[in-house]
Amino acid sequence: MKTDVLVIGSGIAGVSFAIKMAKKFPDKTITILTKTVADETNTKYAQGGVAGVWDAATDSFEKHIEDTLVAGDGLCNTAIVKMVVEEGPERIREIISYGASFDTDTDGNYSLGKEGGHSESRILHHKDVTGKELERALLHEMAKYANIHLLHHCFVLDLITQHHQGYLVTKSTPDITCFGIYALNTHTNKVETILSKITLLAAGGCGQAYRTTTNPTIATGDGVAMVYRAKGRIENMEFIQFHPTALYEPGVSPSFLITEAVRGDGGILRNKAGEAFMEKYDARKDLAPRDIVARAIDSEMKIAGTEFVYLDCTLFSVEKFVHHFPTIYEKCKSIGIDVSKHYIPVAPAAHYSCGGVKTNENGQTSILHLLAAGEVASTGLHGANRLASNSLLEAMVFAHKCCDTVSEQDFVIDFATGLPDWDTAGTTDPKEMILITQSLKELQQIMSDYVGIVRTDVRLERAMKRIDLLHAETELLYQATKVSPQLCELRNLITVGYLIVKGAQFRQESRGLHYNTDYPQKSNLLQNIIL
Ligand code: FAD
Ligand code: SIN
Repeated sequence: MKTDVLVIGSGIAGVSFAIKMAKKFPDKTITILTKTVADETNTKYAQGGVAGVWDAATDSFEKHIEDTLVAGDGLCNTAIVKMVVEEGPERIREIISYGASFDTDTDGNYSLGKEGGHSESRILHHKDVTGKELERALLHEMAKYANIHLLHHCFVLDLITQHHQGYLVTKSTPDITCFGIYALNTHTNKVETILSKITLLAAGGCGQAYRTTTNPTIATGDGVAMVYRAKGRIENMEFIQFHPTALYEPGVSPSFLITEAVRGDGGILRNKAGEAFMEKYDARKDLAPRDIVARAIDSEMKIAGTEFVYLDCTLFSVEKFVHHFPTIYEKCKSIGIDVSKHYIPVAPAAHYSCGGVKTNENGQTSILHLLAAGEVASTGLHGANRLASNSLLEAMVFAHKCCDTVSEQDFVIDFATGLPDWDTAGTTDPKEMILITQSLKELQQIMSDYVGIVRTDVRLERAMKRIDLLHAETELLYQATKVSPQLCELRNLITVGYLIVKGAQFRQESRGLHYNTDYPQKSNLLQNIIL
């Protein structure tokens, strides 16, 4: 199959880009792929909302920029922060023009929420299901374009580069070029070759590397792993953000999120003894940036020997809570928690990957003809810790940048030739799924136990040894077995685990989301770890 433009991922980054490209190049074909169904994305589960400077009377670009830089703990790229914050409101207006609706107050003004690390109320939201509303509006808008083709249940296995034409490609090859992808059609079980002139990688995050995560099962780091295999540049993978307040519900995965907006509206964290503890850790108390709140909770759980702390919402009026957080209210009710009377048990869960595929200010990766946007990308916005609700904003701004980057000139090339079909020689159907499911559990256990909120050199070394073993076993299985999403996701998650541990080992300091008790201080050297 041949397509002018290929988009990997149907979340906010991929769909925003596809719509813009369809408008800009009406005579080009745009193919968008998703590994399951179109709306099963991290985007759909976003709760709190989109940050943006909206109320000029109280807020300013300078304040949003400063908050982002403070949360990022020294590693944000200031020019990128400025660009995203200043272009943000325009992109928000655009998604509103697609039909996305945000909550308003009784005067008809947007009702702005507050989350950790924000000095002002600036989060536009749709109840506690902002992502669902945005994904709905985006897919609805995308359906209007006849030159966009959506392929669902299409699992991308690998990027095609010169390596597949028989050339030696290494990290130092200067002109690694993306010619398209190999993808498994999970309905027919056939691997297809899809050639493209421009490819956008918008494959989302990797929360599934951890046992406890807010991310849905699609978030398996496939994008980062395939770029790493293609010898592209990956950066800052050690900065995995743990959301402080996932609902504590043993055995339930993914974890249900209790949005930070609940703390923005007055929710208070309490320890086992019922004491509000955040003031011991930070002057901003419950609304400190996420890295600080998650570490404080981790510390309180260790002191008390519990697996959770409490979020107290009993001082809210029930009407107010139900109005802003109807889904959370119902979810709590369904497990016997009446938020007006009971504290909500919460614990941190892996939530967001601040690092990823390294891009420049135009969304270009180190691989020619390959752009990246959304959670898969490391643009320089988040530094060592993402400010809440900056992710949806970043995805929209960079989808726009990526579209600006593409010109008619990019299509004046021929599709690549001389590419072999996917080679299945010597492989057989998988005989024992347990080999895959058990290895996945082991990986998630290792990552949660040794590469979580608090790290040490010994834990990282242990994690690396065990990941090496899982890698060796899984590669043998991969060579002998017909590809399946389960096997490929395991392989990708092992690669992501390796990159997180490697990044953590290189970063001999504690900064933002990376906290290593063997190096409790920040280093004077501001550096990104590029692998
Ligand atoms: P996604 O929306 O995750 O989309 C990824 C796409 O890639 C999917 O279509 C998937 O099928 C596809 N894909 C992946 N691998 C393959 C493959 N191998 N082959 C084919 N397709 C593939 N951020 C905020 O700013 N505000 C919030 O309020 C907020 N709340 C959140 C709440 C939750 C519970 C979670 C999990 C995240 C939240 N985030 C929030 C983060 C934010 O939602 C995500 O970072 C963002 O939506 C990512 O968008 P994306 O387009 O990059 O990827
Ligand atoms: C939340 O609603 O707490 C999540 C916001 C985010 O991840 O930015």
